[in-house]
Amino acid sequence: MAEQSVLLIVGGGIAAYKALELVRLLRKAGIGVRCILTRAGAQFVTPLSLSALSENKVFADLFSLTDEAEMGHIELSRASDLVVVAPATADLMAKAAHGQADDLASTTLLATDKRVLMAPAMNVRMWLHPATQRNLATLKSDGVLLVGPDEGAMACGEFGPGRMAEPEVIFAAIQAALAGPAARPLAGKRALVTAGPTLEPIDPVRFLSNRSSGKQGYAIAEALAQLGAEVVLVSGPTALPAPVGVSRVEVETAQEMLVASQSALPVDVAVLVAAVADWRPTQPAARKIKKFGAAPAPITLVENPDILATLSAQGPMRPQLVIGFAAETNDLDHNSQAKLARKGCDWVVANDVSQEGVMGGDSNTVSILSRDGVERWETADKGAVARRLAAKIAETIH
Ligand code: C5P
Repeated sequence: MAEQSVLLIVGGGIAAYKALELVRLLRKAGIGVRCILTRAGAQFVTPLSLSALSENKVFADLFSLTDEAEMGHIELSRASDLVVVAPATADLMAKAAHGQADDLASTTLLATDKRVLMAPAMNVRMWLHPATQRNLATLKSDGVLLVGPDEGAMACGEFGPGRMAEPEVIFAAIQAALAGPAARPLAGKRALVTAGPTLEPIDPVRFLSNRSSGKQGYAIAEALAQLGAEVVLVSGPTALPAPVGVSRVEVETAQEMLVASQSALPVDVAVLVAAVADWRPTQPAARKIKKFGAAPAPITLVENPDILATLSAQGPMRPQLVIGFAAETNDLDHNSQAKLARKGCDWVVANDVSQEGVMGGDSNTVSILSRDGVERWETADKGAVARRLAAKIAETIH
């Protein structure tokens, strides 16, 4: 296959330094890079750095005769598979949204018929300004793809949304955008994934929970997104970052997880990986429970809603495919078959957690049980299990 190639427009913001790392990642993956550096961008990074890393000439000036003779602005976009703007400043976004064309970057954005991916980067108030938000809505409806911005500390000393996504995250978004439709069999499909533990309060400082790390659920959410699905990840408390292209809803209790999961409907597939606490303290104390004398106060428990069983019986809103997980320490097949029947789901992914290191570990040995029988999969890392499961889901739903 011919080398894929990206036209990278580097705008004028402090995040431009991250564009250098992005170019390095792209070249390492064998993706060709040509750069356009705006006048403001050149205040932050030099054409020499970009040209050394991209192994290509850097373009800057619309009215340069030699540049236009070598490769004009039309040809620049024609020769690329994707146009990436990183950092996409408020000004570049405004120009692109309004079709303004007064320099090489904005003229190229107006002249291109290739897909455009923008990684916005700006001060939090500039990002939240209604003008930028209007421009963002326009760009989205024009089909511009977006990655980020992240929320966090900014070079200007403020905190909030506006930080450019990390180079690895932009790189993953570029790879997804470059992959053709065959690589995105779940495009147009919606998926719900639950992951992580739930946390059930005893009092304002204490809770009941479990050892689920969320790794397997997060890997599944990411694998489904990579195949093109629109993914809502309803997650209990974990230490994991939200996977690229997935919208995460953070919850604590099983009851909150149920509400968030039902709000995500309708979906085509629901993969319920969360280790939901079966029970919760009946009445969490409003104040911290004190240590009175010797006898500990008993904690009475009440059963939590079963999210898997509830979604499996959701009537017309039932997802086409509902998948549950079974973490068992004994009688795996028997218990998993019973679970399939009891919960009313379509598949149960069964894993034996009696072996050390599965909970919180990086690999997993699973079997897929359906009414048609059992498929046993060899031990693989959780990412590989997730990709295989996502591929099986893509073959099954239509
Ligand atoms: O009943 P058990 O907890 O073994 O079932 C595990 C499966 O059911 C997992 O898919 C889990 O996400 C789901 N589950 C649920 N709501 C509960 C309990 C389990 O969705 N309250």
